[in-house]
Amino acid sequence: MTPPTLDATAETERAARLVQQALTRLGHAYTTQDGRLVQISYKSLSVAGDRYGLLEVDTQRLPPRVNVARLAHDDVLHHLTAVVGKPVHRLNTTGLTFCVVLEPAARTRLPRYVALDLEQRPTAAPYLVPIGVGHAGPVWRSLLQTGHILVGGETGSGKSTWLQALLAALLTVHDPTQLQLYLVDPKIVEFALWANVPHLGQPIATEVDEATAIIGRLLAELDRRAALFQSVLARNLAAYNARAAEPLPLVLVVIDELTDLALQAGLKSPFYTGLTRLISKARSFGLVLVLATTHPKAEVLNTLVRENCSTRIAFRVTTADHSRVILGSSGAHEIPRTVRGRLLARVDSRLVTLQGYYVADEALQAVAQQVQGQVGVSPLSATEIALVRYAVEQLAGDFLIDQLYAEFGPRGQGRLSRDRLRKLAQAWAARGWLMEPAQPTQPRRVADELAHLIE
Ligand SMILES: Nc1ncnc2c1ncn2[C@@H]1O[C@H](COP(=O)(O)OP(=O)(O)OP(=O)(O)O)[C@@H](O)[C@H]1O
Ligand SMILES: [Mg+2]
Repeated sequence: MTPPTLDATAETERAARLVQQALTRLGHAYTTQDGRLVQISYKSLSVAGDRYGLLEVDTQRLPPRVNVARLAHDDVLHHLTAVVGKPVHRLNTTGLTFCVVLEPAARTRLPRYVALDLEQRPTAAPYLVPIGVGHAGPVWRSLLQTGHILVGGETGSGKSTWLQALLAALLTVHDPTQLQLYLVDPKIVEFALWANVPHLGQPIATEVDEATAIIGRLLAELDRRAALFQSVLARNLAAYNARAAEPLPLVLVVIDELTDLALQAGLKSPFYTGLTRLISKARSFGLVLVLATTHPKAEVLNTLVRENCSTRIAFRVTTADHSRVILGSSGAHEIPRTVRGRLLARVDSRLVTLQGYYVADEALQAVAQQVQGQVGVSPLSATEIALVRYAVEQLAGDFLIDQLYAEFGPRGQGRLSRDRLRKLAQAWAARGWLMEPAQPTQPRRVADELAHLIE
């Protein structure tokens, strides 16, 4: 639609006249040999909302002494821009066609703040996650389609907020029989809010060995699922669940600050090698990884990792290189630092600019509270169940690290280290599963809530 402010044809005609006069003044070269002005034909056109005037000089009629290349020199173009009052470019390389930018499309600005409204999901597809709001409206995608997701951005750019919005959207819709969650949070505080949701397959990991335990468990789950899928000839989770008597949950693994964790563990560590094995096989068995990082280093986010992350989210980054590591193209370094939550996303193989959703802490708390009441699948691993059973049956409910180590450590039936047992005890105490002793010399005791989990 033509806005009333601009008559494109009249503008183009005006530009043609000015260009003709300017070229003439520049060296009297633009009159034909019989003294008439060289004709400039013109037309106006509109491309994707941008409006242009095209001015074509009839070079055939220019006198032979006119150097066409010189006419298209930058200095001449700058002069024309000043005369016309609008940007003038040269369009072709051999002839002389100028393009005058009459009016760029009025691009609406993206909002700087969009609160997540969980009642406003665009479709009823399962496992929908909010990616952001763009010029074409809200963008949400199902985890069944996104593949693994890579999220990068400098500190304070909006990564954790984006991850929280994703978790809130999923946890309000899917119960623990449909969604199982593993969280790795080296900063300890980012996901603490979700520590008691029944979807957790294992307590939130905050250290390398805990994260390694999660990866090990997931690799075992992958093998288990491979056999199950094979038994009904299913090639993905949806197909398996349609055929099997007992449906399996989608497993979502969110790892915050991946680069730091991987470099701390080492690139040859069981954590990192296990992760790369997991990432290349997980998707077809209904395991989705969301990997977030402040320091997008190519040595950690190598080709294998990147190629397996078909959805990429880049908040502001410090360098064009960082943008390339995350997105495969530059651009995220140009996002203004002041617009938090602004992101470039590669979704469905296309790059779009979006404003990420914001969720206030109170809204997150409300979701966590609502979800905590749900009944979970057992959040304990087989070893953990055996540990608790041993404490209850053999140690009269006392969680005695030394005895448990003798039984489940390398000299006993398991491979648990003393350190791992201590960390587990701490995490369970924080969760209310172990009761703190009245005297520091006494052991922690198994709380009823934990005892019920092994019944
Ligand atoms: N989508 C958003 N809309 C508006 N403000 C946002 C948005 N995302 C983040 N912010 C603001 O930016 C702050 C930092 O965001 P966030 O904690 O998500 O960053 P981060 O990338 O995880 O940083 P770090 O690397 O330090 O963990 C938030 O506390 C919030 O005030
Ligand atoms: Mg963060």
